[in-house]
Amino acid sequence: MKIRRFDEVVDSDVVVVGGGIAGMTVALGVAPYSVNLISKLQLGYGSSSRLAQGGVAVALGKGDSPDLHAQDTLAVGGGLCDPSVVDIITREGPRQIHKLVDLGARFDSESTGEIQLGREAAHSRRRIVHANGDSTGAEIVSVLTDTIQKRGSVGVMEDCFAVDLAVANGRVVGVIAFAGRGWILYRARAIVLATGGIGSVFAFTTNPLEATGDGLAMAARVGAQLSDLEFVQFHPTALACTQSPMPLLTEALRGEGAVLIDESGHRFMLEEHSLAELAPRDIVSRVIWRQLQEGSRVFLDGTDAVGPRFPDRFPTVFRLCSENGLDPRTEPIPVSPAAHYHIGGVVTDVRGRSSVPGLWACGETAATRVHGANRLASNSLLEALVFGSRVAEDVLHQVQSVELSRDEPHGEIDFQNPAENEEVKEKVRALMWDKVGLIRDETSLSDALRELNDLKKSFESFPGETRNILTVADLVTSAALARKESRGVHFRSDYPDSDRGWDKHLYHEPTPWVEHALA
Ligand code: SIN
Repeated sequence: MKIRRFDEVVDSDVVVVGGGIAGMTVALGVAPYSVNLISKLQLGYGSSSRLAQGGVAVALGKGDSPDLHAQDTLAVGGGLCDPSVVDIITREGPRQIHKLVDLGARFDSESTGEIQLGREAAHSRRRIVHANGDSTGAEIVSVLTDTIQKRGSVGVMEDCFAVDLAVANGRVVGVIAFAGRGWILYRARAIVLATGGIGSVFAFTTNPLEATGDGLAMAARVGAQLSDLEFVQFHPTALACTQSPMPLLTEALRGEGAVLIDESGHRFMLEEHSLAELAPRDIVSRVIWRQLQEGSRVFLDGTDAVGPRFPDRFPTVFRLCSENGLDPRTEPIPVSPAAHYHIGGVVTDVRGRSSVPGLWACGETAATRVHGANRLASNSLLEALVFGSRVAEDVLHQVQSVELSRDEPHGEIDFQNPAENEEVKEKVRALMWDKVGLIRDETSLSDALRELNDLKKSFESFPGETRNILTVADLVTSAALARKESRGVHFRSDYPDSDRGWDKHLYHEPTPWVEHALA
């Protein structure tokens, strides 16, 4: 094993890990303090935010209100949403949209100039704000990236892999990262994790490949409280093809009237749910999954509802279909569910604080309890914006009273350079898809845990995505095994019903394993 010291130590008031919408919102919000943002890839690329087609759910329309939005969120959440947090995001949403407009975001608008509002599954009103039809995430990411670049107040560390958190006296005081120039210790008075989701732990996902749950794994290694890890949301309609990530066919298509049909052209959702294609996502996903398991293909047919309007109304979907040799104007598109969003994560309070002093989390990395057991469409960008702002506000107050830890790393650091094993990654992804996917049971979950434990042994000491994927897979599988009921996105064929006895969150509180403590 290589023994080495840090090649560089960089100090600032705040360090944000993650360059999606949540991370950039925090970084912009903590000025005038000095902030470094660590991004695994070039800023503006590589986050799930950028790929988000569906938009931001906000009660802006006539006849709508934050209360109605909250009711819809709670109705879908399977009894596990925290109503006070739901109240926060639904009330604070509109202000976030106005802030983005002030920064230059161009959302789709009516001829009157008012923001246009779309419909998505399980929303009782039209309340989804979109940009360029189906490129909402890309528009917000681009505006935030431009603002960061113009203001020049945020130090951006690109192509930099955050490996672990550094802890001194029970407080997170830094981030240990690896970049082309070697090992770097980023010391700060506040550390924010906004590393996105875990889609890449599954063989089929709409998330970018770099969504390997790095923040979740880092937080687990310092003993932060985690919860709701069993709740992985599968999007019903990814384009069934070999591309990775799988192209998303936004839910807004079904909001516009596109229908799901089987190979014989039968519209099967009509007999499955009163809301048909606009039933909650978990129900639509499982119905499709069962059809695929029975060997029948499933298609999303937008030829009547959208037809020739595809290139203008859904340019991203149109491009993705064209790249795969399909024309959604004239033919139904084959679909499959794919891992899409992790509801669980690092437990935070309404200020975004984790259970470990010095550490905040927001966006998909966090478990704020807003989504309960099932996330309502387009509530995730909303959560990233609202909680990104809340974290920034709290950090601004906290930072004043915290001394920067100038401790030198004690002794020498015992690191292996990040090592990846693509074969192991692929094995884990296939295992998670087959055994911890849309339909789970005791046997499949126990088998998965056993296989993961074997794989983990040889990788625990190699920092890298492979280690994080293994950690996250283990955490999700253990939680899924523990919850002996079906609720929201978590479906157990051996416990197919919800059980009032399980009206509770499952917490993971590991024995603190603080690997790289400073003196
Ligand atoms: C979609 O456009 O269908 C995705 C929206 C979301 O996941 O909230």
